[in-house]
Amino acid sequence: MSDKKKIILTGDRPTGKLHVGHYAGSLKRRVELQDSGEFDKIYIMIADAQALTDNADNPAKIRENIMEVALDYLSIGIDPAKSVIFIQSHVAELTELSFYYMNLVTVSRLQRNPTVKSEIQMRNFETSIPVGFFTYPISQAADITAFQATTVPVGEDQAPMIEQTREIVHKFNAVYGETLTEPHILLPDNQACLRLPGTDGKAKMSKSLGNCIYLSESEEDVRKKVMSMFTDPGHIRVQDPGKLEGNTVFTYLDAFSNEGHFAEYLPEYANLDELKEHYKRGGLGDVKVKKFLNSVMQEELSPVRARRAEYEKKIESVYEILKAGSGQARAAAADTLGKVRHAMRIDYFEDKGFLEEQKQKYQ
Ligand code: TRP
Repeated sequence: MSDKKKIILTGDRPTGKLHVGHYAGSLKRRVELQDSGEFDKIYIMIADAQALTDNADNPAKIRENIMEVALDYLSIGIDPAKSVIFIQSHVAELTELSFYYMNLVTVSRLQRNPTVKSEIQMRNFETSIPVGFFTYPISQAADITAFQATTVPVGEDQAPMIEQTREIVHKFNAVYGETLTEPHILLPDNQACLRLPGTDGKAKMSKSLGNCIYLSESEEDVRKKVMSMFTDPGHIRVQDPGKLEGNTVFTYLDAFSNEGHFAEYLPEYANLDELKEHYKRGGLGDVKVKKFLNSVMQEELSPVRARRAEYEKKIESVYEILKAGSGQARAAAADTLGKVRHAMRIDYFEDKGFLEEQKQKYQ
């Protein structure tokens, strides 16, 4: 491609506080990628415009969650000196890019996008699908390509969006000449992190189900949620053999625990495999496993909580981080938009040739 820089773009819709599902699925990885020093640029976007595509009548909800999501980012260790945090609606270039990309995508292709399909069902839109919502994969392609992103660390549910983006990039480059960078998805390498269930064992974590552990949750609330997690309903007495499939406590341990945690909190077992073996054999109670999971979660979340408390004391500086980040993002997107207009030959006033052609023609 035009340059070999390694660039990350990713983001989240500000429709609520971020939870451990977001954390396992993508947020934790972002911090690791940020700290690896391997990337030339990292952009992290608060996708408010996308959130509005299915919340048009509730802008207050989106507005309220801008700061929540920013605080979540900062509290997990996104460092504004290393990563640009910005607000989608404040990069107007993204909408112009979306408008041009719309010409490169068919309605039937959008209808086949599995994420859009399942979201339409979930929201009971049926035939009254807002056009903006229907076309959000195109706007997501604009988000990614505006920054010439090479790498998009997201959860598994976003795979169809990245695929659609790659198609748009191919099409654009084929029609107008090599301009855009083809992005790659970066999924969590831990299977349990791909789809962390809710604390009730349901596949979907949602605020209305009350089955999420939020990053900003208090120590006591985390403990309560862990201690009431769904396990194996057939595991009634301690001596009963227990099942691991669909056992949420073990899924969370798969996602979050390591050998260091065993050495520190549960030294009778060397690792998770030994604990699982004992559970399957019988003779290991749920409470003991849950207490261990609680220690693991607290270790993971207490630094997050502490950092959040610091940032909450200086909201104005968080506001400045967002404002400065949005300005930086806008400059980068404007650069790409310039290239796009040039490739499409609609850069009439930058392109000296345009006036020359017209003069020749009308001479
Ligand atoms: N669709 C993503 C979500 O629901 C948010 C998002 C918008 C995004 N634009 C993006 C993610 C670009 C990665 C890249 O969380």
